Amino acid sequence: MDHYMIGWGHTRFGKHTDSDIESLIVQAAREALEDAGVDAAEIDAIYLGHFNSGMSPQDFCAPLVLQVDERLRFKPATRVENACASGSAALHQGLNHLASGAARRVLVVGVEKMTDAGAAQVADSLLGASYRRSDLVETSLGFAGVFARIARAYFDAYGDHSDVLARIAAKNHHNGARNPYAHLQNDFGFDFCNTESARNPVVAAPLRRTDCSPVSDGAAAVVLSDASGLASARRAVGFRSRVQATEFMPMARRDLTELEGAAHAWRQAMQQAGVGLDDLSFAEVHDCFTIAELMIYEAIGLTPKGQGRRAIEEGWVTADGRLPVNPSGGLKAKGHPVGATGVSMHVMAAKQLTGEAGDMQVASPQLGAVFNMGGVAVANYASVLERAR
Ligand code: COA
Repeated sequence: MDHYMIGWGHTRFGKHTDSDIESLIVQAAREALEDAGVDAAEIDAIYLGHFNSGMSPQDFCAPLVLQVDERLRFKPATRVENACASGSAALHQGLNHLASGAARRVLVVGVEKMTDAGAAQVADSLLGASYRRSDLVETSLGFAGVFARIARAYFDAYGDHSDVLARIAAKNHHNGARNPYAHLQNDFGFDFCNTESARNPVVAAPLRRTDCSPVSDGAAAVVLSDASGLASARRAVGFRSRVQATEFMPMARRDLTELEGAAHAWRQAMQQAGVGLDDLSFAEVHDCFTIAELMIYEAIGLTPKGQGRRAIEEGWVTADGRLPVNPSGGLKAKGHPVGATGVSMHVMAAKQLTGEAGDMQVASPQLGAVFNMGGVAVANYASVLERAR
C-alpha cells in the first residue's frame, strides 16, 4: 500500500434547500482537511467529482473548492466527470497524481445539487448517463426506465424477482436508518417495499419507488496522501488495490442479464489486492436501483448467475451476515447525489475500517471493498481498502 485516505468529511445527504454547490463543497472539504490535520497550504492538487448534466446552473465548479481556504489559490483544481462514478473518478485521478510523484497530498471532493431542478429536468439530466443514440425507450422515466429494462431482462431469464428486490430495499432502508448522513432514515420494512401503494407507486415497471435511489443533494471529501503523511496522520486507510474498467455503452452490445464490467473490475481489484471474498468484512456497492445490487451479488461472485436472490434470502448480506453489503444503507437509503457518491462510499468504508461508523459499525472489520459504477456498469471502479494505522 502506497496511498492512503488520512481524513474525510461528509455532509448529510438529502434535500438541502439552504445550501448550494459551493456551500456543500466547503462544508465537506473543510471537515476533511480538519480531520486530516492537514493545512490547506500542504495540498498539492484538487479533484472535484461532479456530474451536473443540466441539473445545476453552476457547471464550472472545481475552482469553488478554493472557497474552503485562500491558501488553495493557484493550486491545480480539476473537475472530473464519469456519470454516477464521477466521485470515484476524481478519487482515482487524485491517486494517479500521487502515483506520478508530483503530489504528496491531494484533496478530493464529490458534490451534486439535484433538488433545485424540476423532476422532468432531473430525469432528462440523468439520462445523460445513458446511450442516448439508441438505448432510450421512454425518456420520461429517466434512469429508472433504463434499469427497468435491465430488470425485465433479468426477470425474463430467471423469473419475477419483485419480492427479492423488496428484500434488498428493506435491508438497505434498515441500514440507512442507522446512518446519520443518510437522506432516507425510515426503516420501511419488507411489506411496505413489497407492496404497490400510493406511497410506493410503480416508477418504471417492475421498479417501485422503494427500488430507486432518491434524488439528493450532498458532498463528501477525502484527503489523500502518500506514505510521507502516515506518521503524522491520526489514522489512515490504505488502498490495497483500485481498478477502473470501461464497458461498451450500447445495450445492444451487452448481455442485459449480467454486469460484466462490474465483474471484471471487481475480479481485478481482488486479484491485485491478493484477497478473496471471504477476506472482506463488508462491501459498499452501487445500488442505484435494487436490481443493480442483486446483479452485483452475482458480479462479485457471491453466487452464480441467476442465483443472486440467495444472498439476500439467506441473510448473507445483512449487517451481521457473512458479507455485509451496504451497511451504510447504500445509495438506496443514504441517497445518490451523483458526483458525491463515489467519494461518499469511500468515506463510509473508511469509517467502518477505523471503527468510527457508530450505529452502522460492522464487527471487527479488516478489509472492505467499494464498487461504484457510472451508467449500467459502463464506468466501473473497484477498490479494496485496509486500515493502515
Ligand atoms: N425511495 C423511497 N422513498 C422515496 C424515494 C425513494 N427513492 N424518493 C422519494 N421518496 C419519498 C420522499 O421522502 C417522500 O416521502 P414523504 O411523502 O414521506 O415526505 C415521498 O417519497 C415523495 O417524494 P417525491 O420526491 O415527491 O417522490 P417522486 O415520486 O417525485 O420521486 C423517484 C421518486 C423514485 C421517481 C425519484 O427519487 C427518482 O427519480 N429516483 C431515481 C434517481 C436516479 O435515477 N438516479 C440515478 C441513478 S443511476
